[in-house]
Amino acid sequence: MAIAIWSSHFETGIDLIDSQHKALFEAVNRLEASFSLGNTDDMVKKSLDFLVKYTFEHFQTEEQFMCEAAYPGLAEHTDEHDLLMTKVYALQARLAEGTPMTMDVLTFFAGWLGHHIYGTDLAMVQFLKEKNHKR
Ligand SMILES: [Fe+2]
Repeated sequence: MAIAIWSSHFETGIDLIDSQHKALFEAVNRLEASFSLGNTDDMVKKSLDFLVKYTFEHFQTEEQFMCEAAYPGLAEHTDEHDLLMTKVYALQARLAEGTPMTMDVLTFFAGWLGHHIYGTDLAMVQFLKEKNHKR
């Protein structure tokens, strides 16, 4: 069963951000499926590596948008991104050392994503839209 459930509440109205967010949900669900199906550690690691890489790229997209718009909440938003990346890099390192993946980690990631999009990202998008509107 999918762990990250997409809802229209997460839609920002900015196509690139929405498509990246949906892809992130899919990547979390693929990782969860790989883990739950009992795939090899190497397969789980590949799914995690993709999720981490894609998350980083997505954060870069958002941070570029915020920079271009001189968004006043840029530092706080970027701090949230950085904190998550620190956690996922630590997770990657633990897996590389042989510590098995746990469901808790996946639940945390899915929960973080929904919480971040619904709060922090929607606030950013509201500013971006207002800014564009005034141009
Ligand atoms: Fe964000």
